[in-house]
Amino acid sequence: MPNRFPLPFLVLAILALLAGLWAGLMRLGWQLPALAPSLAMLHGPLMISGFLGTLITLERAVAMKQKWMYLPPLLAGLGWLVTLLIQTLPLGPILLTLASLGGVAILAEITRREFALHTVTMLLGALTWFTGNLLWLFGWQIFQVVLFWQAFLVLTIAGERLELSRVLRPARIQQVLFGIIIAILFGGIIIATANIQLGTRLNGLGLLLLALWSIPNDIAWRNLKHRLPLTRYIAWCLALGLIWLGIGGGLSLGFGAQVAGPRYDAALHAVFVGFVISMIFGHAPIIFPAILGLPINFQPAFYIHLILLHASLVLRVLANYANWHTLRMWGGLLNEVAILLFIGMTVLSIRKSLSTKA
Ligand code: HEM
Repeated sequence: MPNRFPLPFLVLAILALLAGLWAGLMRLGWQLPALAPSLAMLHGPLMISGFLGTLITLERAVAMKQKWMYLPPLLAGLGWLVTLLIQTLPLGPILLTLASLGGVAILAEITRREFALHTVTMLLGALTWFTGNLLWLFGWQIFQVVLFWQAFLVLTIAGERLELSRVLRPARIQQVLFGIIIAILFGGIIIATANIQLGTRLNGLGLLLLALWSIPNDIAWRNLKHRLPLTRYIAWCLALGLIWLGIGGGLSLGFGAQVAGPRYDAALHAVFVGFVISMIFGHAPIIFPAILGLPINFQPAFYIHLILLHASLVLRVLANYANWHTLRMWGGLLNEVAILLFIGMTVLSIRKSLSTKA
């Protein structure tokens, strides 16, 4: 049964993504009209809180079926618009911070109902989103809070993967290892507030270990040759994402903190594009049907955006380290083409499943 109620929230999230992608191109050096003052500088908040904050809290609200839980995605969806349109007042960042506080409340309720390693991990993720937003609201620079925002996404996804991999029944020792890795990752973020180099390297080590931990423990690796095409496709999205998580961690561990420029771009987007977006590609056939109550028909053409995303990211990261500016611009542009193709393909397959139902 299609559920149209979440649709306006989803539209707000996708508009934030589109504005964030536009801003990303400007940050890469493409000459584009600035649709709003400081749009380029708002790329990070638009992507993290506007797009993913709205989407993630919306998914939870739909799953939990509690009316109050729609407030955080509403605040996040309005917060990014206000941040973009009214820059004289800190109203937008306040709304985004309240949205992330709401995200903490949702996860606290989920953890209260089921106290488990995966729910605590996701709660920690919500707390890092809130802390990052709060510090940003109080005037910290984005490079100083970006590890908090990154942890929001990494811990949220890690918690979800842990929950989905429960069928593998990870041994007690693996669960302890997972806890230690999360402590390293989290410890890195806290230390980075006092010593950004040491903290970033430690956080990078945590990301790298998390990717390695997934090899025996995440079901994705076992499904790469699954006989069902959709399961196989999802497994490839997840496995490639986990490889990028390891690469991103390795870059932070090896090169330490960066405050801007090509190496900053490489270490951040190995995780944000390589890991997070690939995970979204993989989870979309599960998330969208859950949010909208509509199935997605798998198409082999889904591999086009998947391959394009990863190939163009390889190009972007290599160009960053070779200081080859034009190639970096093209790598980033093609990352965006892959994301837009994914959206187009998803909409098409939802429409197809609607027309076969009619
Ligand atoms: C897909 C295409 C994307 C492009 C072309 C892009 C482009 C950029 C660029 C050029 C920078 C500045 C790097 C520098 O200082 O040289 C940047 C920073 C950043 N990006 Fe992206 N990005 C993309 C995707 C994403 C995604 C998916 C996320 C989040 C999930 C994200 C989050 C961030 C954040 C948080 C920063 C730091 C912002 C700051 O320091 O102001 N980006 N991005």
